[in-house]
Amino acid sequence: MTAPFHYVDGRMHAERVPLARIADEFGTPAYVYSRAALEANFRAFDEAFASLPHLVCYAMKANSNLAVLNVFARLGGGFDIVSGGELARVIAAGGDPAKVVFSGVGKTAAEMRAALAAGIRCFNVESAPELERLAEVAAAAGRRAPVSFRVNPDVDPGTHPYISTGLKENKFGVDFASAPALYRRAASLPSIRVTGIDMHIGSQITELRPCREAAAKLLGLVDALARDGIPLEHVDVGGGLGIRYRDESPVPLHEYAAMLAGLMRGRRETLVLEPGRRLVGDAGALLTRVEYLKRGSRSFAIVDAAMNDLLRPALYDAWHPVDAVAPRAGPAETWQVVGPVCESGDFLAHDRELALAPGDLLAIGAAGAYAMAMSSNYNARPRACEVLVDGDRVHLVRRRERVDDLFAGESIAP
Ligand code: LLP
Repeated sequence: MTAPFHYVDGRMHAERVPLARIADEFGTPAYVYSRAALEANFRAFDEAFASLPHLVCYAMKANSNLAVLNVFARLGGGFDIVSGGELARVIAAGGDPAKVVFSGVGKTAAEMRAALAAGIRCFNVESAPELERLAEVAAAAGRRAPVSFRVNPDVDPGTHPYISTGLKENKFGVDFASAPALYRRAASLPSIRVTGIDMHIGSQITELRPCREAAAKLLGLVDALARDGIPLEHVDVGGGLGIRYRDESPVPLHEYAAMLAGLMRGRRETLVLEPGRRLVGDAGALLTRVEYLKRGSRSFAIVDAAMNDLLRPALYDAWHPVDAVAPRAGPAETWQVVGPVCESGDFLAHDRELALAPGDLLAIGAAGAYAMAMSSNYNARPRACEVLVDGDRVHLVRRRERVDDLFAGESIAP
């Protein structure tokens, strides 16, 4: 496959569709996804584990558009969810609840009831009180809740502190030492069925070492539990594999898969994986138009997308590629690419060398993951539309919000 976003005769295309045509038809800002890239990413991930019994549960927090979920559901994917809202999205997208694992430190009783009723595959339980609540909810519903504990292997993933989750000081998971007692407690509860174990140490990980270290620790615990008379059916290693935004060297999929296949050799448990970013990150771009050029000691390209559309630069100082959809021959200048939101933190990119004129279209790359999913209506800005390109066809998969959508749920007090 050619890269999903590429130039043909000096004009950027998504698959076979010129991005300028999408901007004309649907306006900007617009999120553009490539179906071919989504499918290729899923297949590559799934096929890398072909030698093992496994289930790929896409961490849908990365991008929960129904059309994206549907692409993965059709390929047999399961889903890692973190809320009742995400479960409803899976069902609306045609996903199979029996392939859903439910992560998160704060599941409400209502969310537990909905997930039990839907028949999800597993609750990834993150604390002792969560186990007790789940046992009560399941007993009241006359069901047995399938449970895996998220354990915290205390391994440093070497990533941004905001997206590092596997250290002792993080709020996630139960610590290693207390896991055996929790498993014994779970095994004693009639409304609980112990099925697995899981972890997730962080996101945008670009080294194999922490993944190997954490997985090996996890399997050590699985063996100890088996000796204790608590055999498990699955081992969930979470997500976290990074992608290239700028110059990172992501872990090659085959190395990651070979590492896990080595550790799983001769074992009976099913391997569950929760990739998010790796499946969607490079499959999306944010298309935006230059509104104004403001030249000075620092020159600003003010575009029609902002931090409410793409928060990652403002929140994590994340670097995304910014490219002209139709590059100009003229001399390049250095631009701060910023949006219209009233915050100095509202920037999409710093110090980019581009030849620009007002009205030009820019594509902000690697914007398929944690992009639209983290958008907001800050500054009363309607959210962008989303389109899915499939060969030479373009499907509008989420219409642009209208201004009256913004306050449709509000009312004035008498
Ligand atoms: N499983 C669990 C339990 C998770 O918490 C996450 C991500 C994943 C799987 C998927 O991780 P991935 O494969 O996408 O790295 N907003 C941040 C990323 C937050 C990740 C949160 N958890 C960003 O924009 O970089």
